[in-house]
Amino acid sequence: MDQQAIDYEQLNERGQLRHLLKLDGLDAPVILNLLSRAQSYIRPLRHAPARDDCLAGRTVANLFFEASTRTRASFELAAKRMSADVLNLDVNTSSRIKGESILDTIFTLQSMQTDIFVVRDASAGIPQLIATRVEPHVSVLNAGESDVSHPTQGLLDLLTIRQYKRTFDGLVVAIIGDIAHSRVARSLTEGLRIVGNSEVRLISPPGLEPNPDYYPGTIMTTDIENAIVDSDVIVTLRIQRERIKEKSNLMTSHEYLKEYGLTEARLSRARPDAIVMHPGPMNRNVEIAGAVADGPQSVITQQVTNGLAVRMAILAAVSAGPDQV
Ligand code: CP
Repeated sequence: MDQQAIDYEQLNERGQLRHLLKLDGLDAPVILNLLSRAQSYIRPLRHAPARDDCLAGRTVANLFFEASTRTRASFELAAKRMSADVLNLDVNTSSRIKGESILDTIFTLQSMQTDIFVVRDASAGIPQLIATRVEPHVSVLNAGESDVSHPTQGLLDLLTIRQYKRTFDGLVVAIIGDIAHSRVARSLTEGLRIVGNSEVRLISPPGLEPNPDYYPGTIMTTDIENAIVDSDVIVTLRIQRERIKEKSNLMTSHEYLKEYGLTEARLSRARPDAIVMHPGPMNRNVEIAGAVADGPQSVITQQVTNGLAVRMAILAAVSAGPDQV
């Protein structure tokens, strides 16, 4: 799909968020407002969850044509806690497996008065395509697009960093793993570029290096031992085998942990107060040692909590955006 050929706007004519397709193109106040609203939805575990009726009477359709646990569950809970009617569709139970096009699926659900489409798809360009074809009152939220974009993950990662580091300026953020196939790395790097002045180090094994065009202003290296030194934030990524056709050159799990896994020894090279993040799903003792994932510097479960709050904030933002027709 030719992404350049598709014209779309994420903000409506009043400058309010209508679609969330990628972080690139948003300005810092829009992102920081979303983070602040998300923060307002966070409650301690064992307390009642935050609720907000701002989606009462609206319908949210979660369309997941690729596997998901965190994103799907948190969008569903977010929509329900905001009093929306919620529809969940996945690839195994939708008529897409009978050959229906994604747009025909969208038009079908739009005819049932769906207002917000949450879309995950393995193909690049699908959220943008849908955004150009839906009615003016309808919003599209990208819940993971091929290796291109995962903007809600980028926002929850930014929120997590802000909670622990208070600022985005002057931080050293090390992202380690299969950057070549990572929509998580792309969205977080886009977000960091917008909200502050941090140093991003992209550390990947040979053969899994990213396209430099997608990562302006970053440091790219295969040298994990040196690049991890003095980092404030470490983001570990799994190898995205589902996006790699030729797997014979990949390291075994044991080799990977030894060469590029975040072990306690490697973590000790970062700053003592460095935080450890992982978007999930996590392969323990491959890209991250179990002791690190469960250790005192890990904020992985906080990322999950933040993901739900961020998705509530985005739903609230787009529910206020489109004209109520
Ligand atoms: N991080 C993330 O997108 O997780 P899921 O694939 O489980 O949604």
